This record gives sequence, structure tokens and C-alpha cells, in this order.
Amino acid sequence: MGHSSASASIQLLSLIILLGILSLETIKLGFCSDDHNVGCIDIERKALLKLKQGLTDPSGRLSSWVGEDCCKWSGVGCNNITGRVNMLDLHNRDWFDYYGATEHGFDGEINPSLLVLKDLEYLDLSLNMFVGVQFPSFIGSLEKLKYLNLSRTYFVGVIPPNLGNLSRLLYLDLKSFGSLETDLQWLATLSSLKYLNLGYVNLTKTTSYWLPAVNMLHSLVELYLPSCSLPMLPLTLPSFNFTSLSVLDLSDNKFTSTIPPWLFNLTKLENLDFAFNNLIGKLPDSLGYLKSLRHLDLSGNSLEGAIPESLRELSSLVSLHISDNKWEGAITEAHFVKLRSLKEVSIGNYPSTISLVFNVSSDWIPPFKLRYLKIRSCQLGPKFPTWLRNQTELTTVVLRNAGISGTIPDWFLQLDLQLEELNFADNQLSGRVPNSLRFSHASTVDLTSNRFEGPLPLWSSNITWLYLRDNLFSGPIPHNIGQVMPNLKSLDISKNSLSGSIPLSLGNLSHLHYIWISNNLLSGEIPHFFDYIPSLRIIDMSNNSLSGEIRHFWNNSPFLLSIDLSNNNLSGTIPRSLGSLTLLQFLGLSSNNFSGEVPSLKNCTNLYVLDLGDNKFSGPILASIGESMPNLRILSLRSNSFTGSIPLKLCGFLALRILDFSHNNLSGNIPHCIGNLSGMKSELENHFNSLGRFELVSKGRVLVYDYYSILHLVTSVDLSDNKLSGEISIGLTSLVKLGTLNLSMNHLTGIIPANIGNLESIETLDLSMNKLSGSIPQSMVSLTFLNHLNLSYNNLSGKIPTGNQFQTFVDPSIYEGNPGLSGCPLPTGCQNNEGAPQVPSGDEGEDDDSKLEKLQFVISMVIGFCAGFWGVFGTLAVKRSWRYAYFHFLDKVTNAVLYFVSTIGTYPQKRS
Ligand SMILES: *[C@@H]1O[C@H](CO)[C@@H](O)[C@H](O)[C@H]1NC(C)=O
Ligand SMILES: *[C@@H]1O[C@H](CO)[C@@H](O)[C@H](O)[C@H]1NC(C)=O
Ligand SMILES: *[C@@H]1O[C@H](CO)[C@@H](O)[C@H](O)[C@H]1NC(C)=O
Ligand SMILES: *[C@@H]1O[C@H](CO)[C@@H](O)[C@H](O)[C@H]1NC(C)=O
Ligand SMILES: *[C@@H]1O[C@H](CO)[C@@H](O)[C@H](O)[C@H]1NC(C)=O
Ligand SMILES: *[C@@H]1O[C@H](CO)[C@@H](O)[C@H](O)[C@H]1NC(C)=O
Ligand SMILES: *[C@@H]1O[C@H](CO)[C@@H](O)[C@H](O)[C@H]1NC(C)=O
Ligand SMILES: *[C@@H]1O[C@H](CO)[C@@H](O)[C@H](O)[C@H]1NC(C)=O
Repeated sequence: MGHSSASASIQLLSLIILLGILSLETIKLGFCSDDHNVGCIDIERKALLKLKQGLTDPSGRLSSWVGEDCCKWSGVGCNNITGRVNMLDLHNRDWFDYYGATEHGFDGEINPSLLVLKDLEYLDLSLNMFVGVQFPSFIGSLEKLKYLNLSRTYFVGVIPPNLGNLSRLLYLDLKSFGSLETDLQWLATLSSLKYLNLGYVNLTKTTSYWLPAVNMLHSLVELYLPSCSLPMLPLTLPSFNFTSLSVLDLSDNKFTSTIPPWLFNLTKLENLDFAFNNLIGKLPDSLGYLKSLRHLDLSGNSLEGAIPESLRELSSLVSLHISDNKWEGAITEAHFVKLRSLKEVSIGNYPSTISLVFNVSSDWIPPFKLRYLKIRSCQLGPKFPTWLRNQTELTTVVLRNAGISGTIPDWFLQLDLQLEELNFADNQLSGRVPNSLRFSHASTVDLTSNRFEGPLPLWSSNITWLYLRDNLFSGPIPHNIGQVMPNLKSLDISKNSLSGSIPLSLGNLSHLHYIWISNNLLSGEIPHFFDYIPSLRIIDMSNNSLSGEIRHFWNNSPFLLSIDLSNNNLSGTIPRSLGSLTLLQFLGLSSNNFSGEVPSLKNCTNLYVLDLGDNKFSGPILASIGESMPNLRILSLRSNSFTGSIPLKLCGFLALRILDFSHNNLSGNIPHCIGNLSGMKSELENHFNSLGRFELVSKGRVLVYDYYSILHLVTSVDLSDNKLSGEISIGLTSLVKLGTLNLSMNHLTGIIPANIGNLESIETLDLSMNKLSGSIPQSMVSLTFLNHLNLSYNNLSGKIPTGNQFQTFVDPSIYEGNPGLSGCPLPTGCQNNEGAPQVPSGDEGEDDDSKLEKLQFVISMVIGFCAGFWGVFGTLAVKRSWRYAYFHFLDKVTNAVLYFVSTIGTYPQKRS
């Protein structure tokens, strides 16, 4: 949120500049004045009415467009002498409201009748929602335009080159939210242009030409080309035209070069943004030439080496964002000597290796007073940084993975900061967390992965995102948590030592999106008695300050997207009200003692992950799962007491990648239609890739790990240890991307399907302990990825195939218990010189463990995915400006990657 102030001040600055210039323009343009109104011209009035007809106007904003004098209509301005319309300001209000879009603005078409307005100088249609409408090609004919703003209008298609006819243009804002593309050949003629914003317009085709093209614009003061897919940053520029440039935003493009030397000739530059490219090399010493710089953002690149000491020359610097690079060496007091204006700093590295050291003396008093401090993966500790003693204006304090240990010092509390974000995650901080910290509205607290102990801290209702995962907090979850922090959207208190029951007040958090309380010692039931007493009239709720109607535990949290209660000692049945959470994407209840039937989840049609494993659930599966769960990727009911047959509707879960019904009492056949599970037939579809890294965003912290890159590693059907009978469904052999198939410990009969060789991706195949007969199909020789095979204890006969993978299956136990089998590696079978090779024992058990681990690993990944998935919309919905969202994203994304990388990092270690 410090960033919001950063961008706010950037915007403010641009606004001031803009207003300054505009006020001159305005005088020139003139607005209608009641006194000297010559009235509007009839053909222009009619043209405007035609325009109105073409527009869909849900909010009735053009209701004033009646009557003769169109100069008085809202948004219309006329020249006070000629009476001709010279201004049309139909911009919509910013449509991001706290809970999503409320202002829809205009839709429909822009009628070419606009061309009648020959004197039009100012046209602003920004923020209207012309979703999917082609960019109006006639705009290039409005030759007198000086100001054209089509920012975030959702037009699509190609920006027509005839915009080059608008040679009087001073301001051109085409920042896109649609999918627009263009080359920039037409730019050269816009010689008066001061402001150009083509953000999010696809400029792939311009190759390196874009730079010479904008270099023609010698009046240019502000240039915004963020997220334009610009492929190349030319390192040389023969001569300079745009020497007036004050703002250069080239963030989120595809540059992979070093920082070009010409940049340092732009001495008037105040705002330089290269964030989120892939720039390499070191930051040159010539950085110090950019003496006017106020805002520098180089975060999210691959810059390496030491940060040059010439940084100190940037004495006007207000914000310095250089996080998420590959910096090395030390940052010292010398870097900051002249940076008196500094308000925002983010420094750090990606990945999480600490190669950068903050080397200042313990009595350093910095020349600045920061509002926003974000240091990540940079050695600050082991002592809590004492130079913060004088930073009394901080609102954002992020010291993440900074090697800090010990307790939070008293003097930090005495600073009496009013914080928007406090993040000490991934340090070794210990002791109790003070309850006395003060927070502003909608704050984030992230103390993940430390050694904090004592009772769970509660702060004010201003806390929205609370992450206390992986600490040593103990005792009960405070019963009044829901009253003290009623605005929580995310609550992650997993991986602590919390005990006692789930407090009723948790069910009262009406804004809650994520609740993760897994891996604790919680016991008791999920409060749900209200479910069963629908006629209850009087409830004694004394000693509470509950408000509103409370009927069902979850009913008051309609926005819940992710619930993880796994790995506790919770018991009892699941409240029926769970089934009303229609937005739910993740439900993890595994490894508890829940019992009874699972309530109907038919309405939870958005589920991605349903994990009920390792409980005491009983009854048929049929009842709980819905007809339509088009997104369901993981369905685990393992180790319960489910009965009945596998329902046919399962075959409708086309997205399923992991199906685990093992260790239950299921009977009947494996349905043939299981072959319909197309999620196991194809590589994982990549339709989220268009969102790219955005899927990693989440407010406060990113808990998203690249779901797709992980989940595609695992595709599994595990029906082992049930009472399934009949033949192995031929359908299974069409799941060509299946990685694991475990049908062991059932009553399956018949033969192994001859075309089992179709399972081209299979790595693990376990058919042991069934009643299968016939021979091992020769087609299995083609399963080149197969590395774990178990066919023991069946009635298989004939000769074990040879060749390919079968050469590596040297352990005879995988065939044992099949008296009719012969061939290598069975002791009786190997007549040739190889003999029966020896195999290390204990391999199998370890193997199962690691598989299980893998699954749990994937599931925990997926929680993250769900978080991030919401984060996409959350960011869109919650943030006031896209730029904010974007910057926010910059900060968050590497978190995600770091978290992801560190998780992966620990995973193999756990196995060994
Ligand atoms: C008419 O517009 C001109 C600028 O175009 C301005 O200078 C003048 O003050 C305006 N007159 C009135 C009466 O508004
Ligand atoms: C264009 O409109 C958007 C949204 O109304 C605004 O934020 C932006 O500053 C405008 N651009 C210019 C150059 O005035
Ligand atoms: C930009 O356009 C090119 C084709 O011109 C396309 O290949 C590319 O995917 C587009 N980029 C984005 C981000 O849409
Ligand atoms: C500088 O701008 C002028 C006019 O806009 C143009 O003629 C000239 O080619 C430009 N120079 C370069 C090096 O682009
Ligand atoms: C940049 O400035 C240096 C001297 O400071 C000069 O030698 C060089 O030619 C300039 N580059 C351009 C492209 O004008
Ligand atoms: C910095 O803080 C210390 C200790 O709190 C205090 O003694 C000193 O006066 C402060 N210095 C400045 C410049 O604020
Ligand atoms: C909550 O935040 C607001 C401003 O964001 C602040 O005025 C208020 O004092 C805060 N409340 C508490 C209890 O800290
Ligand atoms: C599911 O939705 C339907 C229609 O809205 C509703 O009648 C039914 O009660 C819901 N079922 C559950 C379990 O919430």
C-alpha cells in the first residue's frame, strides 16, 4: 500500500504537470458560458443524438442530452464564439469498486456521426466498456484533435495508421485493456505530441523500430509503453530528439539486453520505470547522471553485481524500487548519503538466496524518513536493524527473509507506527508478538515462518490479511477472533500448535475468502448445531457481541474460496451449510476424524480440489458430489469408509487429474466411462497462461505456486484397497497421460487389457493382489516411462515379456504369487547367464511414502493456486487503479516464486 502512495504521487505529479498544461489549453478551448452562449449548431446536435443512439447507457449518463442547446449537455463543450462543439468528455468513472465493477459506462458503438464535429479538439471516452468492439477507424479523420483519450476502453483490433493524420495532437492516451495492436509507423507525423500512452497495446511487430519511431517526437515529455510486448531495447541511438522526456515507462516488456547507454543522456528524466523486464548486466555508474530522477523502478529484472555507489547522486529520489534482481555485494550508508527525499525503498533479490548485504553501522541515522520499506532476501540481521529507530513515518515495513533473529525490540513498538503492512516472514524472530501494534484500514500482517510463540495475537478490525503460518503459537484460537477482526479476508494460522476447538465466531467472518488452519492440534467439531435445529427460536448468545443472523456456521461467509482444515484432530460431521459455499474452490479436510456422511456439495460447482482423505467418512460417494464440477482437478477420498459403487457421474469430471478413492469399501465395477476423463488424456490445458504471472497475485501475500507446472507432473488414478470387482475397465487404457494407476488389493478378474500399452506416460502401475488371469500383454514393453510395476498375487500366467523397461524390473517380488508366470527375473525363469539380479529391499514402502508425499505436496500447491486464481479477480476488483494492481503484482509475484522455489527446494530433502 506504500506503493499506492508511490503511484499516487506519480499520478499526482503527472496530474500537476498535466493540469498546468491543460489549464492553458482550456482557456484556448473555452467552455460554454451561460452568458455568451451562441447555442449549438443543429447538425452537430443531430450528430450527437446519433452518437447517443449508438451507445448503450446503463447508468443513464446521457439523460441530459435533450433540448436544443447541445452545448449545455453534460460532457459537451463548445467554442463560445462559433458555437461549434470542440470538446466531448464522456469518460466513465473509475469502475473498480471495492467489491467489483459497479459503474459499467457506455457500451455499444461509436457512431461515425462524430465526424460532423469538425472542430472537435478534445475527446475523452476513457474507462467505458466497449468490450470486443473494433477500434473506431474514423477517429483519424478528426483532424483538429489535440487531446484523445481512449484509455481502458476495451476496444480491440488494429490501431489504424490514419491516427498519423492527427498532427495537432498533444495528448494521446490509448492505454488498452482490450487486445489492440499496431506498428508505430504512423507516429512520426505527430510532431507536437507531449504525452503518449500505449500501455498494454501489443507492439510485438514493431521489433526494434519502436525506439526510432518515438525518437521522432521531439516534444515528448511523457512516454508510457508498459506491457506492450516490446521485444527489443536498442542499445544505440544515433541522435537524440526526445531530450525533453521526463517520464519513461517501459515496464513489463520483453527486454533482455543490458541497460542502454543512451538512457543516461536523458537528464530531464524524473520517472524511469523498467520494472519487470529481463535486463541483465550491472547497473552502470552513469546512473548518477540522472540527477532529476524522482522515481526509479528497476525491480523484477536480472541485474547483477553491486549496486553502484553513484546512487547517492540522485538527490531528488523519492522512490527507489530495485527489488527482485540478482544483486551482490553490500549496500552501505554511502549509497544513501544525499537521498534526503527518499520515501519509498524496495530492495531485494530473487531467488531467495541472500547475496546482498545491508552493511550499515548500528548507530547509522539515515538522512531520510521512509513511508515504505520493503527489503527481501537481503542480509539485514542477525540483529533487528537499529537504523529504523528514527523512521517514525513508516506505514509499510517488510523485512522478509532478512536473516533477523531475536525478539521484536521494544523501541520498534515505541515508534507507534500506524502500519498498512507488516511483514517479517521467513526470519528467525522469536518471543511473543505484541498486541499493541496499530494498523490502518485493510492492513496485512505476515509473520509466516518464524519462531513466534505464545497465544495467537489479535489486533484490530483493520486487519484484513493475516498470515501467521509456521510458527510456534499455541493455546486455543481466541473465541472472539471473529469479533475483534471481523474484516479478515485471509486467515492463515496453519502449521502451529494451536489446540482446542474452532470458535463459533470464525463462522461470522463475512468477508472471509481463505481460511487455512491445517496442521495444528485442533479438536472438537466444526460448530454446526444450528443446522439441525431449523425451528430454533431462542438462542442464548450472551457473552458475545455477535450481530446479524447466525443460522449456519459457514452461511455468513459466502465468499469463502478456500478452506483447509487438514491435519488436525477435528471430529464429528460436516455442517450441511458447507454445501452453500458456491464459490468454494478448495476444500481440504484430510487427516482428521470427521465421520458420518459428507453433506451434498452439489452446489459447489467451482471446486478445483476436494480432499476428504484420511477420515472416517462413510456412506455412498454418490450423495455428496455434484453433477457438474467442471473445474475439479483433484478428488481424494482416500482412507475412509465410503461404500457403494463408483458413481457414473464421476466420468463427467472432465478436468480431473488426480482421482484417489483408495482404502475404502467401494464395490462394483470400475465404470467404462472412466475413459472420458479427458484431463488425463491430454497435456494440461494452458488456458490460464494468458493470465501469465497474474495468476500468482494475491493480496498481502502470494500463496500461489505455479499450479500448472506442478500438476502436470502428476496424473493419477488410485482405487486400491477396495472391493471392486469385474474386469479392468478398457476405458482406463484410453487415459494416455496417466502417470500412476493403482488398482491393487481389489477383487478384479479377467485379463490385463491387451492395449494397456496405450498408457504411454505411465510411471507407476500396480495391479497386485487381485484375481487377474491371462498373460502379461506384450504391449507393455512399449511403456518406456514405467519404473514401478507390481503384478504380484494374481493368477497371471505365461512368460514375462522382455525388452525395454522390462530389463530394469529385476525384483522378482513384483511377479510373485502368480504360480503360472515364468521367465526372468523369477528364480526359475532365468536360464541364461544373467541370473536373478538382486534388488535393495524396503524400496516399495519408501516408494509409497514418497508418492503420498508427492500428492500432498501437489495438494498444498493447489491451495496456493486457488488463492492466486482468486487473486486475479481480487486484484482487479479490489484495487482502485490498474497501475496499483500492476505494481502490487510486481511486489507479490516474486514472493510467490520464492515461496514456490523454496517449497520445491525442501521437497527433495524431505524424501532423502
Ligand atoms: C471565450 O473563449 C475564449 C478562449 O477561447 C476566452 O478567452 C474567453 O474568455 C471566453 N469568453 C467568455 C465570455 O467565456
Ligand atoms: C485518460 O483517462 C484516464 C482515465 O480517465 C486518466 O487516468 C488519464 O490520466 C487520461 N490521460 C490523459 C493524458 O489525460
Ligand atoms: C502480440 O501479437 C503477436 C502477433 O502479432 C502474438 O504472437 C502475441 O501473442 C501477442 N502478445 C500478446 C501478449 O497478446
Ligand atoms: C527528429 O525529429 C525530426 C522532426 O520530428 C525528424 O525529422 C528527425 O528525423 C528526427 N531525428 C531522429 C534522429 O529521429
Ligand atoms: C550522450 O552523451 C554523451 C556525452 O555525455 C555523448 O558523447 C553521446 O553522443 C550522447 N548520446 C546521444 C545518443 O546523444
Ligand atoms: C534518532 O533516534 C535516536 C534514538 O531514538 C535519538 O536519540 C536521535 O535524536 C534521533 N535522531 C534524529 C535525527 O531524529
Ligand atoms: C483503523 O484505520 C483507520 C484509518 O485507516 C484509523 O483511523 C483507525 O484508528 C484504525 N483503527 C484502529 C483500531 O487502529
Ligand atoms: C443448492 O442450490 C439450490 C438452488 O439454489 C437450492 O435450492 C439448494 O438448497 C442448494 N443446496 C444446498 C445443499 O445448499
